[in-house]
Amino acid sequence: MADSNRYPKDIIDDAINFIEKERELYGDFSVNPKSKESTQDESPASQSTSAGSSSNNTVTEPSLQETSSSKNNQQEEGFTPQEGLFNKDESNDVYYHIDKCNSLDELNALCQKADVLRTDLEGTQLVFGVGNPDADLMIIGEAPGAEEDKQGEPFVGKAGQLLNKILDAINFKREDVYIANILKHRPPNNRNPKPEERERSLPFLLRQIDLIEPKLILAVGKVAAQTLLDKNLSLTKMRGQFHDFRGKYELLATYHPAALLRHPKWKRPTWKDVQLLRERYDELGGQP
Ligand code: URA
Repeated sequence: MADSNRYPKDIIDDAINFIEKERELYGDFSVNPKSKESTQDESPASQSTSAGSSSNNTVTEPSLQETSSSKNNQQEEGFTPQEGLFNKDESNDVYYHIDKCNSLDELNALCQKADVLRTDLEGTQLVFGVGNPDADLMIIGEAPGAEEDKQGEPFVGKAGQLLNKILDAINFKREDVYIANILKHRPPNNRNPKPEERERSLPFLLRQIDLIEPKLILAVGKVAAQTLLDKNLSLTKMRGQFHDFRGKYELLATYHPAALLRHPKWKRPTWKDVQLLRERYDELGGQP
């Protein structure tokens, strides 16, 4: 029931708060039906990742970590782990032990010892992953940033706060899902993970996924989507649909929360994606 004793100022303040919350979640909107949400930034051409491509008025998909002003080395190439690259027969080879890990704790202990997971930034700590080990939804980002490295937990900085809000908007609690990254160590200057770093880290992540066995995987950002799907496609092409992932899982790709902080107009398509995610989760009987 409306409270007729409320001052107009309170009502206006409430309305402003409401609109600000909506804008934060869904991005800027316009009451002018002709002003459609921008499609330019979603076109594959405008998602060119080459440095300086914004000079021709295209909007480049931003790099995927929070403080990434120095990122100008976006990788264009797809990602194909080489068959036989890892010597699975040598028991002194860390890769040999991956499939022997039968719990997340065992895998975590192996990762702690695995220098192959390190980047060329010295003194970083392992950011293994966090959340419900029985999660039906797993969220996979790119690599830890400064705050994640400090706390040893993925998505705890500004992008993480937005991720929490997105999860909340589709009725997930952070602790219900499992969150990890393609890389388990922070790259220097928050640069993009190099193909060889992704390649070295991926077998650990794949084991982690198999130990959790989620019904759905949400890959946030182009690096995560390209690495997992092994596709050299723009995010525009990959998002908005479920992909088969290794014959066992369904994977949806969407924008990275850090990208949304810099390009709020991508919040709308992200909102569509995560609603799709929630629907599919419920259809598949995801718990909780
Ligand atoms: N960006 C990522 O991709 N992962 C994190 O954990 C934090 C920021």
